Amino acid sequence: MSKFLAGLVVALTFVAPRHALAEKISIACGSVGQEQEVCRQGAEAWAKKTGHTINLVSVPTAADQQLAQFQQLLAAGSPDVDVYRIDVVWPGIVGNHLIDLKPYFPDTALSQFFPAIVKNNTVNGKLIAIPWFTDAGLLYYRKDLLEKYQQKPPTTWQELAQIAKTVVEGERKAGQDKLVGFVFQGKAYEGLTCNALEWVDSFGGGTIVDSSGKVTIYNPKAVEAIQFAASLIGPVAPKGVLSYEEEGARGVFQSGNAVFMRNWPYAWALANSKDSPVNGKVGVMALPKGGPDGKSSGTLGGWQLGVSKYSKHQEIAVDLVKYLTSPEEQKRRALVASFNPTIASLYKDQEILKANPFIGQLEATFTNAVSRPATVTGTKYNQVSTEFRNAVYATLSGKGSADANLKKLQDKLVKLSNNGKW
Ligand code: GLC
Repeated sequence: MSKFLAGLVVALTFVAPRHALAEKISIACGSVGQEQEVCRQGAEAWAKKTGHTINLVSVPTAADQQLAQFQQLLAAGSPDVDVYRIDVVWPGIVGNHLIDLKPYFPDTALSQFFPAIVKNNTVNGKLIAIPWFTDAGLLYYRKDLLEKYQQKPPTTWQELAQIAKTVVEGERKAGQDKLVGFVFQGKAYEGLTCNALEWVDSFGGGTIVDSSGKVTIYNPKAVEAIQFAASLIGPVAPKGVLSYEEEGARGVFQSGNAVFMRNWPYAWALANSKDSPVNGKVGVMALPKGGPDGKSSGTLGGWQLGVSKYSKHQEIAVDLVKYLTSPEEQKRRALVASFNPTIASLYKDQEILKANPFIGQLEATFTNAVSRPATVTGTKYNQVSTEFRNAVYATLSGKGSADANLKKLQDKLVKLSNNGKW
């Protein structure tokens, strides 16, 4: 055997086993803001470490459209996606299609995560996903503009409307004719469900369906909240909000054209990025109360990673989930993209707190966040959410009063609820 061939045999002995085991793992992560890019960086770092390769599945931006795409793949038993990113409101809807991760995560590993999220991800005793990042609705505001007009950050929604009008009027006189008061997620998709739940709960109008399964949405406080929100369209929020998802709102705010914005934590890193026109001018706080007797209410959001039952590479996929949800990777994600970790100890990490002061300051907002009624409505959550946001959207677009629309909604949901048993 020539020296060359001998060398080749030696080389192959070392390289071949690794290659024989290398697999391509497909992961569906999000696509809002930096989500896709930051997911790719993490998954690629894992691939480099393990010798596997990754494929990023492209997904729609709206959470409910992602769900529709995933449900099709899962219902068909498709092996095309190994790792799915699961919204905090989906465990009851897609849990049956995901493997139990308990055997792979000993209690010592699991106890690092917020217990409430682990519980939320446990369906019929099966741990169907590992918490990846958590979310709550926040209010972003222009510190510089509020100071200029000697306004304090608003404590109620009514104050927000008033301050927005004062600032916009002043700036318009000074020739800034693009400025609007408030932007949020007003398109008829899951984001509007989150925004509208905040309005309703902050006015004391409950959570659409209560924890016992009773439909509660038609009540005077909820009607007041939605009617109030509708009154903002035009005078305070541009009509365009009715087509905004997260990124639509952020685009307006970040280019300097809105006084207030409702959004999730991810917007912090982007609003303060080097090339952002509002870098350093942004404050972030809890959402306003629904009047002096109301409360501040931010909807609980967040995402988990689960492994498909139909994956042909389940063990390797689990390894990717372990890597992406690890404290080191969650820290990196918090630093580069302000994704709130799901590991309690990271909330004491000085680098994370320095990059994202709101994470430390708004602890109560995150711990008291209001949950959408997903656990109690189970597989029907998506229908409940769709009916709710459609009723709200109709009201915001001037099609019927909040009273009439929420009354109709109540009747529909009661029918759907199977006498509160769901
Ligand atoms: C955020 C939240 C998620 C929610 C979605 C709605 O991604 O984390 O829970 O469903 O926004 O747009």
